[in-house]
Amino acid sequence: MPESTDGREQDVVAVILEDHRTMEELFRRMRSVEDDRAGALREFSALLIAHGEAEEAEVYGALKRFRNVDDEEVEHGVEEHEEGNKALLDLLEVDGVGSEEWDSRLEDLVEAVSHHVDEEERTILNGARENVPDERRAELGAAFLKERARQLEADCGSVENVRAVVNG
Ligand SMILES: [Fe+2]
Ligand SMILES: [Fe+2]
Repeated sequence: MPESTDGREQDVVAVILEDHRTMEELFRRMRSVEDDRAGALREFSALLIAHGEAEEAEVYGALKRFRNVDDEEVEHGVEEHEEGNKALLDLLEVDGVGSEEWDSRLEDLVEAVSHHVDEEERTILNGARENVPDERRAELGAAFLKERARQLEADCGSVENVRAVVNG
């Protein structure tokens, strides 16, 4: 993640996209029998929760206040976070990484998150690209990264916390 205060690097669209690509890389690792799949899942769990909570706390609400950013798409994004978090919890609750049950729940998780990431990029993030000025995008990026860091610091990917978020 960019640490620099350079405005371009903190563009909220860019930092969100970077996380999405990391999620896809972690899916590949979780699928590979040659990889540390449990470690990849731990990393993914923390990233998914930190990313989604930071979007909801710092980005989605702010974007809704812009004309031409589709409010319904933003609200739909929150629903899709709930689906992704639930699929994550289902996977975390299976013993035996790489078991048949684990693999099938992993694919449910990949499907839920990939669907959301794809839709978010085509709707919410394009809305932000077209309607939110650079300076505001940089501010939102900084706020997103701050909340994201706070979540990670608080071990947001632990099964206890994921359960609390899902049952929230
Ligand atoms: Fe996202
Ligand atoms: Fe999202």
